[in-house]
Amino acid sequence: MTAAAPAAPAAAAPAQSGSSAGERYTDNKLKQDIRMNNMSAAKKLADAVRTSLGPRGMDKMLVSGHGDVTITNDGATILQKMDVRHPAAKMLVELSKSQDIVAGDGTTSVTVLCGSLLNKCIGLLSKGVHPTVVSDAMGMACDKACEILQDMSLPLDITDRESLIKASTTSLGSKVVAQYSNLLSPIAVDSVLKVMDPLRPEMVDLKDIKIVTKGGGTIDDTEMVKGLVFDSKASKGAGGPSKIEGAKIALIQFCISPPKTDLENSVIVSDYTQMDRILKEERNYIISLIKKIKASGCNVLLIQKSILRDAVTDLSLHYLAKAKILVVRDVERDDVEFISKTLKCQPVAHVDQLTPDKLGHADVVKEVQCGGGKLVKVEGIQNMGNTVTVVVRGSNKLVIDEADRSLHDALCVIRCLVQKRFLIAGGGAPEVEVSQQLALWARTLQGMDAVCVKAFAEALEVIPYTLAENAGLNPIQIVTELRNLHQQGNPNHGINVRKGTITNILEENVLQPLLVSTSALSLATECVRMILKIDDICPVR
Ligand SMILES: Nc1ncnc2c1ncn2[C@@H]1O[C@H](COP(=O)(O)OP(=O)(O)OP(=O)(O)O)[C@@H](O)[C@H]1O
Ligand SMILES: [Mg+2]
Repeated sequence: MTAAAPAAPAAAAPAQSGSSAGERYTDNKLKQDIRMNNMSAAKKLADAVRTSLGPRGMDKMLVSGHGDVTITNDGATILQKMDVRHPAAKMLVELSKSQDIVAGDGTTSVTVLCGSLLNKCIGLLSKGVHPTVVSDAMGMACDKACEILQDMSLPLDITDRESLIKASTTSLGSKVVAQYSNLLSPIAVDSVLKVMDPLRPEMVDLKDIKIVTKGGGTIDDTEMVKGLVFDSKASKGAGGPSKIEGAKIALIQFCISPPKTDLENSVIVSDYTQMDRILKEERNYIISLIKKIKASGCNVLLIQKSILRDAVTDLSLHYLAKAKILVVRDVERDDVEFISKTLKCQPVAHVDQLTPDKLGHADVVKEVQCGGGKLVKVEGIQNMGNTVTVVVRGSNKLVIDEADRSLHDALCVIRCLVQKRFLIAGGGAPEVEVSQQLALWARTLQGMDAVCVKAFAEALEVIPYTLAENAGLNPIQIVTELRNLHQQGNPNHGINVRKGTITNILEENVLQPLLVSTSALSLATECVRMILKIDDICPVR
């Protein structure tokens, strides 16, 4: 990376030899070259993801050095997995990541918008406009654009399940798993509504929705479970139970196995009587642990994964089976919080602290067959916390992973709507409308600001242009027609990608959260302004 940075301006230099600005000092010329070089590198990256925008966008197959394959349509995933070297292009990767964190959806749009804005900036800079002037005007235009978006948005009532499903369907519509959106959208909506805290309705923590992926079957078999699901079979010795009714569930963080010596120490056993004694001690130790567990009334045991020693051994499984306790081993440390929230049980770190009040209660815990493997399901949890588990099924890992990512996008869309309860039309309608209104506003401005705001307005048209292009329509014709319709006062007309024409996009039920669009606009503008202000790349130690 450091080797490429100083060499790059030299490559971009000939293209800039015609520009008049910045020739007052020989030094300035180099700075401008670096800026231009940064901008064109970032723009090239944006162009790479452009083809995956919209419901008719293409998907990418990402292949790692080890031959791992990922198929995805998600902008953030594509950029994150790409081997990007140029420091300015890396800013674009961060940009889509920020959008993924803030809104979850719109990660392709934000990159495409940024590329288009950079393109306009390159034009403005080569006309001799100073970068700071461009940067300030861009900030101003972005604020105005967000206001316009807010004005054209439709308020949403969070109990309106239909509208939420529409928004989630729009988000899923551009994914590989689009044909399953009828099934996945209600799951996404119901999950988020279930985990919403009535006391703090604006706060939705997606960590309360656990997604378990399981191969075998098709996406049609995906289901939302009001309970808990473990992606493992019940560990049992011979004769152990695989179904418990009236379950009393303990979540333990200690191991049911004989203690080990320190790493450096070893115990040398020299005769058989000593060995017998050790085995007897081991057995007694385990039996005493299990007796205490049984005494608390527990009949289902969830054991946290341990890295120091085996959480359970064959011997302890044997005694647990005798005590008729169902065991789920290797519960991840990260899942402990989720489990204790769901079951309203307390994790227990030492056997002496295992008391009946720390147990969770459920009607039934059972092992079920699912696809090629087994799952343990906990159903009918009494006094269940606000959590949901979704079991995502699919025929192979590529499909399941993409379904998981798409579901995440849909969940994020609903979370956006919970946070900011406004919807806007999709299909490029808001971008064209904002572009028109900004262009009108630009006429009221003076000097360079007017030129820059106009350029900003034009840059927004990249979204309808790309949507049309990806759908195999004639982009110039479509965008021109859209401009005309919006000028005649049809703010919700956009590209109906499925029919290949322009219609009122609200009637097509293509709705998306306002937050996705405003955050895409402001993050893209921020990134462009940041790139504009960089005038040198300095390798450091
Ligand atoms: N049925 C549809 N008709 C027209 N336009 C649509 C339709 N569904 C989605 N769009 C538009 O497609 C764009 C979103 O495309 P896409 O979902 O591929 O990218 P993204 O949301 O920006 O990024 P990502 O989903 O990868 O995070 C939005 O501008 C949206 O308005
Ligand atoms: Mg999307």
